[in-house]
Amino acid sequence: MAHSITLIPGDGIGPEVSAAARSVIEAAGVAVDWDVQTAGLEVARAGGNPLPDRVIDSIRANRFGLKGPCGTPIGGGFRSVNVTLRQTLDLYANVRPIKSLPRVEERFDVDMVIVRENTEGLYAGLELMIMPGVAQSIKLTTERSSRRIAEFAFRYAERHGRPWVTMVHKANIMKISDGLALETTRKVAPLHPTIELREMIVDAAAMVMVRNPNSLGVLVAENLYGDILSDLGAGLVGGLGFVPGANIGDDAAVFEAVHGTAPDLAGKGIANPTAMIQSAVMMLHHLGEKTAADAIQKAILRQYDERKVITGDIGGNAGTTAFTAELCRLVREIRETSG
Ligand code: NAI
Repeated sequence: MAHSITLIPGDGIGPEVSAAARSVIEAAGVAVDWDVQTAGLEVARAGGNPLPDRVIDSIRANRFGLKGPCGTPIGGGFRSVNVTLRQTLDLYANVRPIKSLPRVEERFDVDMVIVRENTEGLYAGLELMIMPGVAQSIKLTTERSSRRIAEFAFRYAERHGRPWVTMVHKANIMKISDGLALETTRKVAPLHPTIELREMIVDAAAMVMVRNPNSLGVLVAENLYGDILSDLGAGLVGGLGFVPGANIGDDAAVFEAVHGTAPDLAGKGIANPTAMIQSAVMMLHHLGEKTAADAIQKAILRQYDERKVITGDIGGNAGTTAFTAELCRLVREIRETSG
């Protein structure tokens, strides 16, 4: 039976990379009924709400979404489409595996995971102008969210055979907010005795990520630290074209690359779809389609190892379509030889 999945093509390079992900899923033999829902800048420009209720309703009904990056109009009273989507569906855990692919960025050999709290912190949207010339942003931290993101990180470490979780914070300065998150994580740790809890201040963590990223294991952090460190992680593995992500809640999950709409590449057919395709691989694992997910991952490894059809961001000259066609060919070949 076909899976019903909401597809949000998004803005900028979003439609190009999400079309690539669709083709690869099809090549892997997974039947999907795509419920295509537009959201983002283009919808806002046409006079609508950039995140219409129909999009939320569709994801609620299907429980799974694959999403291209969405822009948000600056000004005009709109909140970020991405933040609103995550908050409305309570997709509280943002999982971003940072893993090197062969022959992409040979200075580093990275294999770590970022688990970012997705609903609070400075992204809670609690901003106000106290008086002319004085603005305030409230960093919201609750015990409930701190506990569930810590729980998620420890369970993730257990399931994926990763021996430690590194809690990244700035509790030496933000003693109350980050202090609460840290204390809560310390209370969760003993419930997971096979996993070691390590703690690190965020500025030190940025340095360690460059010098010895794998020592961080599963890095768990509040929203802003997780956001910034994710892009740093992308830099270590070849750029934003590579890092996938999953926004996971108790009732729904939305899979999307770490990158944004890349306005500099949009419409040129040259974006690297790997991050989006690897997000689709994460989704296939959640759907129980392990064989298909493994075939795609194996094909990605082979394509980069051969380095014949690669995109411009890492020195190749293939466009998005040629890259995707080659990957689909490899996926089919792997399926035929293993079946
Ligand atoms: P960006 O991620 O779109 O681009 C940063 C740099 O990375 C650019 O040089 C771009 O060309 C490159 N890049 C990104 N994706 C790539 C890919 N697949 N292949 C090759 N190169 C790639 O970040 P930026 O410019 O800060 O944001 C642009 C817009 O995207 C903003 O409106 C922002 O709000 C939105 N955004 C949306 C996100 C989402 O929907 N989840 C996440 C991040 C940003």
